[in-house]
Amino acid sequence: MRMTTEYLADEIAGLYDDQSALPPYAEEMFNHFISLLDSGEIRAAENCNGEWRVNHWIKKGILLGFRLGKFQQACTESPFPYFDKHTFPLKTFSESDMVRIVPGGSSVRRGAYVAQGVIMMPPSYINVGAYVGRGTMVDSHALIGSCAQVGEKVHVSAAAQLGGVLEPIGALPVIIEDDVLIGGNCGIYEGTIVKRRAVLGAGVFITASTPVYDCVNETIIRKNENGSVVIPENAVVVAGTRSLGGAFAHAQNLGIYTPLIVKYRDNRTDARTALEESLR
Ligand SMILES: CC(C)(COP(=O)(O)OP(=O)(O)OC[C@H]1O[C@@H](n2cnc3c(N)ncnc32)[C@H](O)[C@@H]1OP(=O)(O)O)[C@@H](O)C(=O)NCCC(=O)NCCS
Repeated sequence: MRMTTEYLADEIAGLYDDQSALPPYAEEMFNHFISLLDSGEIRAAENCNGEWRVNHWIKKGILLGFRLGKFQQACTESPFPYFDKHTFPLKTFSESDMVRIVPGGSSVRRGAYVAQGVIMMPPSYINVGAYVGRGTMVDSHALIGSCAQVGEKVHVSAAAQLGGVLEPIGALPVIIEDDVLIGGNCGIYEGTIVKRRAVLGAGVFITASTPVYDCVNETIIRKNENGSVVIPENAVVVAGTRSLGGAFAHAQNLGIYTPLIVKYRDNRTDARTALEESLR
């Protein structure tokens, strides 16, 4: 089936909005849509001259797949069969894809794009609509949530979680640009954009409601008009605290978690975050 992206976007959005029974061609349309997502030809967000534009219809297409999907058992020969909607099978890889998937319980759903040179340590999970660029390391217990966009040579450290768009309603894709380090146990959610070469220290959490205190420029970063918190290029963000407002909190000496930009990347940060080439 050949069609322009604009045509496909209109068709998908129309089918999604139509609450009546889906027409017979809907599944063919969905299969075409998911194969383009799988090959990276369409993406949940695109960078246009440095600005990220979210393609909201992609989420509609994925949700359409859940409406079309029928519950089924897959992988019948395994002692641990799995059960899912038939529209969301696992992605299939071959040696020529040049993706290293180390054995031990990782999964990638069909409709996720995974570039050559990506390394997945077990167990890790890449959900539908995600995009993972060349040379990125997805370490153990890491989640690349639905529609999350991850650039090239990113290190998604152990137990780091990049949130997805499927729930809650209205969630935006998380975007991680090239050469970023996401430290262990980070949680990055709800449309957060992390610009090139930024470093998130271990245990940093950011949602659309999280103010980020830039101690270098003495500013507070809050979500922008599109609903995204944007971490600047080269920022080094660590997990901090601040006093909580209000008389009760003051009396109890309460503080609240807050991410802090303590510096912008320098030689010391480069040395601390350098990747081990022999692992690649
Ligand atoms: C952020 C990180 C890279 C350090 O960067 P750096 O540029 O070397 O930072 P510096 O050592 O110059 O520290 C700058 C300031 O932030 C503080 N700081 C640095 N890292 C911190 C952290 N993770 N949490 C809290 N404070 C931190 C330092 O104490 C220093 O403050 P000070 O000047 O008042 O002492 C490192 O702390 C980190 O979190 N690395 C990721 C580790 C990881 O998750 N590995 C995953 C393996 S799977």
